[in-house]
Amino acid sequence: MKLRVIDGLDVRGKYVLLRDDFNVQIVDGKITDPFRIEQSMPTINALRSAGARIAIVAHRGRPKGERNMEYTLQPIADYMGVDLISDCLDKDFLANMRDGDVVLLENVRFYAGEEKNDPAFAENLARGFDLFVNDAFAVSHRAHASTVGVAEILPSYAGRLLASEIEHLSAVMENPARPLLSIVAGSKVSTKIGVLKALAKLSDTLIIGGALGTTFNYAMGGRVGNSLYEADQKETALEILDFAEKNNCRVLLPLDKGVAKEFARDAVRSNKDFTEIEDDDVIIDAGIKTTERDVAEIRRAKTVIWNGTVGMAEWQPTWSYGSFAIANAIAQQTRDGKLESIIGGGDTVAALEACGVKDDITYVSTGGGAFLEFVEGRTLPGVAILEDK
Ligand code: 3PG
Ligand code: MG
Repeated sequence: MKLRVIDGLDVRGKYVLLRDDFNVQIVDGKITDPFRIEQSMPTINALRSAGARIAIVAHRGRPKGERNMEYTLQPIADYMGVDLISDCLDKDFLANMRDGDVVLLENVRFYAGEEKNDPAFAENLARGFDLFVNDAFAVSHRAHASTVGVAEILPSYAGRLLASEIEHLSAVMENPARPLLSIVAGSKVSTKIGVLKALAKLSDTLIIGGALGTTFNYAMGGRVGNSLYEADQKETALEILDFAEKNNCRVLLPLDKGVAKEFARDAVRSNKDFTEIEDDDVIIDAGIKTTERDVAEIRRAKTVIWNGTVGMAEWQPTWSYGSFAIANAIAQQTRDGKLESIIGGGDTVAALEACGVKDDITYVSTGGGAFLEFVEGRTLPGVAILEDK
């Protein structure tokens, strides 16, 4: 896919509406991981040094069309050292902007017209601007006013992050070095059916882990105790396994699990095979045999696509064992030049960060839902509208 990009654009003195995804976690007013913000900086800096007057439009959380200050972008403005315009439809500040100035507009989801992609709201948002740049790959699977609506009104372009996401993810989807191993985990089968099928079609081997893996184990008649899994997804799980077999994809399910008697960070860990799991056992992490097998698979692969942690990676060190072993093995192989690694999803990227190996990965996507939909082969409306036809 060829996109209209910002390189070579004459933006000096122009008013640019720039869409970024700053949907980051904020705890006690502090940004826990500024990855999405940092990845947005190359486009901001390029536009700024080219003399554009930039207003960034962004969202945080799901305030449902209401001005709820729990979701203010103030901490992000503070982090970036720019002014926050307290209403995203305000235009008064434009007259005072100089070339290279940057401001951040308050949460666009404070208006119901945003998620509805209401044409009148998009008109209001676009008013006063000369062009639109979308760099918010992570929200481009949503057809909202600030991703699609304004792109229909203003001359519109892809920012560097968005273009880079499409380039890297397309490359691995179109022509991966083989064997290609995909590792998919997380909690819900229902949200991952599409991506599991797409990866089963593409990959040589598919590892299914986490609570997702537990549902598959359950579907195969395994014992799962008192763990998180989806009983109603049994048929779907079996259908996915059948689909993978028809597409010559080897599927590897969990062999054993790290379990406890309660779902708690400080619970006592024991390692059990599926046959040993008791009714009051709760699965919290991948087991030792499973993890050793996963690491061996990673060492054999030439490409790895990973989304979803295989346990409670944030409960370190007891329950991060499986996810960290995967992260470290992928990082090691990539550092050694033996592996192309593509990783996406908020929790997964947080695990890389916690392991200190994020910089070793070939490509870390800023997308969660958008990453999954792209891998699934779905058209992202916010990207499609930027296509250079
Ligand atoms: C994300 O964090 O995945 C994006 O910002 C999209 O957010 P949403 O799922 O609330 O639309
Ligand atoms: Mg999301």
